[in-house]
Order: sequence, then structure tokens, then C-alpha cells
Amino acid sequence: MFEQLDQIEKEAKAALANVQSLDDLAAWRTQWTGKKGSLAQASQSIGKLDPKDRPAFGQRFGAIKQALSEQEATLESRLQSAALHEELEEDAVDISLPGRAANIGRLHPSTQSLRRIQHIFAEMGFQVWESREVESDEYNFELLNMPAHHPARDMWDTFYVQSDDPQQKVVLRTHTSPGQIHVMRTLNPEPIRVILPGKCYRYEPVSARSEMMFHQVEGLVIGRNITMADLKGTLANFARRMFKDDVKVRYRPSYFPFTEPSVEVDIECFICGGEGCRICKKSGWLEILGAGMVHPTVLRNGGYDPAEWSGFAFGMGPERQTMLRYDIDDIRWFFSNDGRFLEQFG
Ligand code: PHE
Repeated sequence: MFEQLDQIEKEAKAALANVQSLDDLAAWRTQWTGKKGSLAQASQSIGKLDPKDRPAFGQRFGAIKQALSEQEATLESRLQSAALHEELEEDAVDISLPGRAANIGRLHPSTQSLRRIQHIFAEMGFQVWESREVESDEYNFELLNMPAHHPARDMWDTFYVQSDDPQQKVVLRTHTSPGQIHVMRTLNPEPIRVILPGKCYRYEPVSARSEMMFHQVEGLVIGRNITMADLKGTLANFARRMFKDDVKVRYRPSYFPFTEPSVEVDIECFICGGEGCRICKKSGWLEILGAGMVHPTVLRNGGYDPAEWSGFAFGMGPERQTMLRYDIDDIRWFFSNDGRFLEQFG
């Protein structure tokens, strides 16, 4: 009997020396120290012993059991920490790998350009006004001195919006100029110095040069004794601040139904310095905006008596100016949501 216990101890220890994993250990336990293991089985033979030998057997049994469980516990904690270590090693993050920079985004080039324009005019005392994008035919055309069937309407191909009112056509504004009437009707009889930035829409085939949606910045100044000299000074100052300190500015006669006289404003081409190149189409000049003295009819429609008041207005396209500035060959880049284009404007 005693020899059997010794034998079990020897074999169990030898088997424990071969245990490599927690799974092995569980199997070892079942075989040797578990409820139905060899040790438990051997203990049952205590009944067959001479009663006087039983205490010694019991002691021996207890000692072996304790020794085995101590060894088992030590091994178990070693295997557990080895397993944990292995798991950590597998999941390890390579901290020497360079990180991926977070993409924090940036302002759209049109927004950047609008902000630049607003900043320049704000320094000259202009306030920023916002006006609606969905307009009536009356505001987009009629009050701007273009009655129905006026041929000048052909300058603006128009999106008409379905409306229930047969008397009043509703349009997507083709320019920011209807905002002039809203400002005048709101502020009269006060003098006015505002810019109106916003989106416009034109029913035109989309091409490298024209989008169906784009931005404009309208400007309106109304006061007593406002003259063409004010227009020229303001816009020349704007061009210098926007493009280059010593940029040359040229005023060309033009036509708009809501201004008289009307001009188109060009700057000397900053690519070729006036020599003539691809960007300025060999002319040496780049057109940046349309402007003029507010037409008496328009002043009247806004509630200002042209005998007492005068003013000037202008309209410019920030996308066009950005295209000139950065030599962008296609306006469609602006609104096609292509990150490769947008991320170049930091
Ligand atoms: N509204 C004109 C356009 O869209 C620009 C303009 C505005 C011209 C104000 C003169 C005065 O072409």
C-alpha cells in the first residue's frame, strides 16, 4: 500500500515535468490529483489496512497530496503568466511605426476666397448682408430695370421654380444683384455700404468655364454725392489688396441694365505682367468684375430719390478669381468634391 503511494508520487511528479501548457495541466490533474484520479483511488484502499497503520497512511497520503498540489499551483501560475505574455506579445503595437496624421480638414477654396474678399471690404467699412437664393422674377429682373421680354435677360439663363402663383414667377437667382433691392428697401432712407456674398444659379451647359452653381459677391454703396471716382477708388483698392500692391487696374465700358454707366474691371495679368500669355489669352489683362453707377430706376425701386441719392454697385465671382490666382483650368473642380483638388488649398 505504501509503495503504491510512493509509486504514484514518483509517476505524478515525472508526468508534471512534461506538462507544457494549461491544457496539459488540466489533463494531468484529471489523471493524478482529481476526484477520480490515481491518488484518490489509492486512498480508498485505506479500509483494507490494519487500523494501526491507518494514521501513518493518512499522513503519507496528505503529504503527497500537498506536495503535488503545491507543485501544480506553482506550475499553473507560471503557465498562466507565460500565456498572458504570449497574448500581449501577439497584440503588441509597434510603437516605432510612424503614426498616421489625423486629417483635420480645411476650408473650401471658395470659402477661403469669400472670407478674403469680405475681410478686404470690411476694412473699408462695408457690412456683410445675406440675401435669399430663391427669388421672384420681379426682384431678379424687373426691379433691376429688366421688364419681361427685355433682351438683356438673355445674359442670364434662368432656372424657373414651379410655383402656385401664376402671376409671380419664382427663380433661382441668376446673380446676387436682387439683393441690392432688398437692402435698399430695408435700409432706406439711410446711406448704404454693404457686400452681399452668396450662391447663384444659371441654366447653362456645365463646362470648364461655367458651372450651374457658383458664388458671387455683390457690392452696393448708396449716399449723397457718390461718384464714379468712389467706384474707381474702392475697386482699385480692392484689387491691390486682393492681388498685388502695385497691380494695374483698367476700367472698360460695358453694359448692365441696372447700372449706368457700366464698366468691366480688369487687372494687369499677374502671370505674364501684361506681355500676353495663355491665362490672359494674349490680352495682358484679366477681367475680375462688373460694376457701374446704380441706375436711377433701380434707385427709385429701392426707395431712393435719384435727384438726391446716387451710388455704385459691383459684382464679382470668387471662383473665377481663385482660378486666375492659382491657374486652375476648370471651374468644375470646385464642386466635384475631389479631395485631391480641395486639399491643395491649406
Ligand atoms: N450682376 C452682374 C452679373 O451677374 C454683375 C454686376 C453687379 C454688374 C453689379 C454691375 C453691378 O453679371
